[in-house]
Amino acid sequence: MKNLPAVAGGSPVRAQYLVFGSPSIGEEEISEVSQSMRSGWVGTGPKVKTFEEMFRKFKNCRHAIAVSSCTAALHLSLLILKIKSGHEVITTPLTFAATANCIVHAGAKPVFADVELKTMNIDPVEVEKKITKNTKAIIPVHLAGRPCEMDALMGLARSSRLRVIEDAAHAIESLYKGKPIGTLGDLGCFSFYVTKNVTTVEGGMVVTDQDDLASQIKSLALHGLTQDAWQRFSDEGFKHYQVVSAGFKYNMTDIHASIGIHQLKKMEVHAQRREEIWEIYNQSFKELPLILPSPTPPDQRHAYHLYTPLLELERVRCTRDEFLQALHQENIGAGIHYVALHLHPFYQKTFGYRAGQFPRAEFISHRTFSLPFSAKLTHQDVEDVVQAVKKILAYYRK
Ligand SMILES: Cc1ncc(COP(=O)(O)O)c(C=O)c1O
Repeated sequence: MKNLPAVAGGSPVRAQYLVFGSPSIGEEEISEVSQSMRSGWVGTGPKVKTFEEMFRKFKNCRHAIAVSSCTAALHLSLLILKIKSGHEVITTPLTFAATANCIVHAGAKPVFADVELKTMNIDPVEVEKKITKNTKAIIPVHLAGRPCEMDALMGLARSSRLRVIEDAAHAIESLYKGKPIGTLGDLGCFSFYVTKNVTTVEGGMVVTDQDDLASQIKSLALHGLTQDAWQRFSDEGFKHYQVVSAGFKYNMTDIHASIGIHQLKKMEVHAQRREEIWEIYNQSFKELPLILPSPTPPDQRHAYHLYTPLLELERVRCTRDEFLQALHQENIGAGIHYVALHLHPFYQKTFGYRAGQFPRAEFISHRTFSLPFSAKLTHQDVEDVVQAVKKILAYYRK
């Protein structure tokens, strides 16, 4: 066979390693960070306020509160909804650890509900089956940027008096029937981690239309104080604060917000580039032993955060992990989003979860992989990914 993959002794498609999830950061972000550092104001200050206001307007909601991560955003959201020991929170097993870990941090039990094969998102029919008298909330995760079935989930929440916290870590640009994702539930949580569509390196945001929830998040994110730290030290004069709860240190800094301000301005340009790459991948992989992401309904906007095909194990002579190792040897980085949480030792030991309980999440978990998919990718990078995938699958195809 000519054109052997590197894993079988051929030459890799590229000499330089293509890092998975490398962000597109330009001179604007770099000079804004320098300007903040020179200004003497590097902590939580005016740039955080600007970033919050830009995000609030973009989401068309009443409040946007910047925090240090989406994990912090989820944790605070659960706490202010008074979720605690004895309570259950329903979420998807096909998510990052942070979603379910936060439920554990709040003292409650994460109850998984299986996903839909087509969307890979939590299935409202499965959610309904999991509701008990102890259920207090649902955390839908808009996986890869594709909106969950929010009408059905909000209907269940209303009829069973449950709160909804949207894990919108992947879904900054997403819309559901014209409404911005994150604003459909009681609270929406966003991530600005390095690989995300909008990055601040580390960072998060909570959005809500409910004034009382917003003021609790603000206070709890900063030690449970009554005043923002930046107001305490601003040129508006000395201000006292009071401690009203045992809060956390979850505030965002002006250094991080400096990056976010410019990332947000470039968001649509970056989104357009990712959509182009999505189309190139879809067209290039049509004939391969892969299940490609299913199209998004016309009344939804996908944020195109991750490109996650499934490897058709039945049609190839390799496991998903061997396939990823072969990509690695072509000098192409890839990810897995995710190995289902009920298969991880902590969730098995602590809550008794076991393999076989969520067959659709497991089907995806064993087959999913994420290809490089950032606005930073050049035409050549995308071409290299396509060539590598084709070469490896030609070799492993049954
Ligand atoms: C679905 C999901 N939820 C939550 C998080 C946590 O975000 P952060 O890293 O900002 O805490 C992530 C991070 O990757 C995520 O993918």
